[in-house]
Amino acid sequence: MDLKQVRETAREKMKGYCRVCPVCDGRACAGSVPGIGGTGTGSAFNANLEALAKVKLNLRTIHQAKEPDLSLTLFGEELATPILAAPITGASINMGGALTEREMVDALLQGALAAGSLGMTGDTGVPSMYDDGLAGIKAVNGKGIPFIKPRSQEEIKKRIDKAEAAGALAVGVDVDGAGLITMALNGQPVGPKSVENIKELVSYTKLPFIVKGIMTVDEAKLMAEAGVAAIVVSNHGGRVLDHTLGAADVLPEIADAVKGKVTILADGGVRSGVDVLKLLALGADAVLVGRPLIIGAFGGGSEGVKLTIETYTKQLLQAMILTGTEKVTQVSRDILVC
Ligand SMILES: Cc1cc2nc3c(=O)[nH]c(=O)nc-3n(C[C@H](O)[C@H](O)[C@H](O)COP(=O)(O)O)c2cc1C
Repeated sequence: MDLKQVRETAREKMKGYCRVCPVCDGRACAGSVPGIGGTGTGSAFNANLEALAKVKLNLRTIHQAKEPDLSLTLFGEELATPILAAPITGASINMGGALTEREMVDALLQGALAAGSLGMTGDTGVPSMYDDGLAGIKAVNGKGIPFIKPRSQEEIKKRIDKAEAAGALAVGVDVDGAGLITMALNGQPVGPKSVENIKELVSYTKLPFIVKGIMTVDEAKLMAEAGVAAIVVSNHGGRVLDHTLGAADVLPEIADAVKGKVTILADGGVRSGVDVLKLLALGADAVLVGRPLIIGAFGGGSEGVKLTIETYTKQLLQAMILTGTEKVTQVSRDILVC
């Protein structure tokens, strides 16, 4: 199996939902939510790619970084690569249903693990999909991280209990899902959270607690003060609010404010190992990938996901050699052209 075959199969299996474009930038699928695109004009999806494309690297080869170290520890797990599978839900709603929810989740979690990484799962207006994610996490001995929509505190706590029972490594809330009308239409109301709400959840769970969907310095600082273990700098792949900045636009200031106080994850528009290195240099501790791994899952199951993460990891290794970067845990901003 190679990535070309994976992409061809995925194009067939997601017909009418994802065109598997040469560059996955949200233009062809603009407005496809539900679907695989970005909301509205698709501008926020595209902004993620544009923000990364603006970042340029300094090519350096007179140095000692011959065998870069790509390993890191995250939520107590030793990982071979900083490239994780982002939470994805809605195999039937968003991708056409060629895979069941459970099959998609299994492909993402198992493929990520096989590549020496980790996967995450999500939550939607169809409550059984959160449970499918947890079943997948249980099947890999808890080596996964579920994300819960910003439901009422009581509903979140019920789902945290289930995550703990499944043995998950950590648990999170994608707070940027606060405006999702689809959730309300399904009788599953969501809404914004207060700092007190987040503090309550942090102390409620014994697991590391993650807040996904932070795009401003003020909220990153508030989350650090609230005691979260990690934030995900993310605009939800451009799926929640049109015309936001890209994650790579806001990441440097956020890292300046909270690096070392909380673990910083980032996602949005990562389409190569070079993009991964850019986000690490801008301040991320690890990076999540969404749509390319959906394509991996539909095009080749767990093998397709593994192959995609391994391909990006090889590209990252090469880019580290060519920028003089010895460790993924210490990526200098000096590798970037300012
Ligand atoms: C079809 C689809 C479903 C998603 N479902 C969820 C979800 O349930 N929970 C969540 O936190 N993020 C969800 N996301 C957002 C991803 O976790 C991630 O933030 C985003 O896809 C990253 O951008 P990229 O796809 O450009 O890599 C979803 C994204 C897509 C495309």
